[in-house]
Amino acid sequence: MTSKYQIKNIDLSPKGENSIYLAESRMPTLARIRRRFEKEKPLKGLTIGACLHVTRETGVLAQTLKAGGAKLALCGSNPLSTQDDVAAALVKEGFNVYAWNRNDSEYYNCIKSVLDHKPDILIDDGADLIVIAHKEKKTLLESILGGQEETTTGVNRLRVMHERNALNIPVIAVNDAIVKKMFDNRYGTGQGVVSAIKALNILFAGKTVIVAGYGPCSWGMATRSRGLGANVIVTEVNPIRALEAVMDGYRVLPMEKAVLEADMVFTSTGCKDVVVGKHFKNMKDGVILANLGHFNIEISVKDLEDVSSKKKRIGEYVDEYTFSNGKRLYLLGEGRLANLVVIGGHPSEIMDLSFSVQALTAEFLIKNRDKLEHKVYTVPNEISEEIAKVKLETMKINIDSLTEEQEAYIKSFEIGT
Ligand code: ADE
Repeated sequence: MTSKYQIKNIDLSPKGENSIYLAESRMPTLARIRRRFEKEKPLKGLTIGACLHVTRETGVLAQTLKAGGAKLALCGSNPLSTQDDVAAALVKEGFNVYAWNRNDSEYYNCIKSVLDHKPDILIDDGADLIVIAHKEKKTLLESILGGQEETTTGVNRLRVMHERNALNIPVIAVNDAIVKKMFDNRYGTGQGVVSAIKALNILFAGKTVIVAGYGPCSWGMATRSRGLGANVIVTEVNPIRALEAVMDGYRVLPMEKAVLEADMVFTSTGCKDVVVGKHFKNMKDGVILANLGHFNIEISVKDLEDVSSKKKRIGEYVDEYTFSNGKRLYLLGEGRLANLVVIGGHPSEIMDLSFSVQALTAEFLIKNRDKLEHKVYTVPNEISEEIAKVKLETMKINIDSLTEEQEAYIKSFEIGT
C-alpha cells in the first residue's frame, strides 16, 4: 500500500477548511442530503475512489460521502486544478488525498494510488480513473460495484468502451442527468469563461467572441458573452447544432473564416485540433484563447509554440506568444480547462446540483447493485426532479402543483372541446 496521502503542504489546511466551510454554506441541497446520510448511512462500509477536481466544492462532496458511511480516496482529474489548501484540509479530516498543483508527471500514479485502496465505487471526471482500472488493475474490476461519470467527455469515452465490449463495470452517466447538464455545463461553464477572461480585466462589449462547438457549455458561453455586448460567432461540425446556433441568432462560420474576426476564442467541443497553426497565423494581434473542454487538446499548444517566436508568462496562467511580425496571442491556463485553472471552477451554487446528483447516484448504485449490467446508464429522472425540488425550496421559490383533476386529465386520453 502506498502512503495515505500525497499533497503539497499539510500546513495549508486552515485556509482550506475556511474555503470548504464557505462553499458548504452555498450548497444547501447537498447539505440536506448529508443530514439524511448521517442518519441512514446508505454508504456504510464502502470505499469510494474518486478522480475529481480537488476544489472546495469537492471537499463538501467528500464530507457528504463520509457522512453516508463511506471511506474516500481522492486524486485530481487535472494537473492544474487542485486547490492545495483544500487537499490539506481533507487530509486533516482523514481522507486519503493524492493531488497537488501542478502535478504533470505523477498524474497517473496518483490515480493508481487511489485504486490501491480497492474502491467499491469509482467517481470519475473525464474517465481516467475508470480507464486505468480497466487497463492496469483488471483484477479490481470484479469487486467494483460501478462507476459514476461527471463529464460529457468521460461519458463519451465510456460509451465507446461499451460499444467495443470493453466496459466491465456498470457506469452511471451523472453528466447526462438533466439537473447536471442543463445547469453545470450551461450556467457553470457559461459564467466560468467570462470570469476567467475578466480576471484579465478585458472588456467584452463590442468584441468578437468565437465559440467552438454548440453543446450546453457553449450555449452558456455564447449567451453570457452576448449579454456583455460581444458579437458571437459559433463554429460547428454538427448540422443540427449549427442550425440551432443560427436560430439562436448567432453567426455561424467555419473556423478558418471566424478566426479572421476573433478577439477571443473559446473551445468546448470534446475534439482535438480545433484551433491549430493555420488559425493562429491568421489571427489579429491581441486575441485571447481559452479552452473549456475537458482535455488540453482543443487548442494546439504545440502548434502555437511552433508558429510563434517567443513565449512569456505575463500573469498566473496567462502566456503571451509573440510572432516574428510583433503580433501577440494570449493563452489562458496552458490550454487546459480555463475556468478551473484560472478561477477555481464553477461556483458552489452550481456544484450543489452536480454533486447532489453524485451523492444520490452513489446511493442508487448501492441499492441497485444486483440489477446493473456492464453498460452506461442514465440517472433516473426522479433523482433530478428531487434535486430541483429541494434546490427551489432552499431558494424559497414556490411553484404550482397539479390539481387532482388536472393530473387525471394529463393521464387520460381526453381531448379539449
Ligand atoms: N468542475 C467544474 N467546476 C468544478 C468545481 N468547482 N469543483 C469540482 N469540479 C468542478
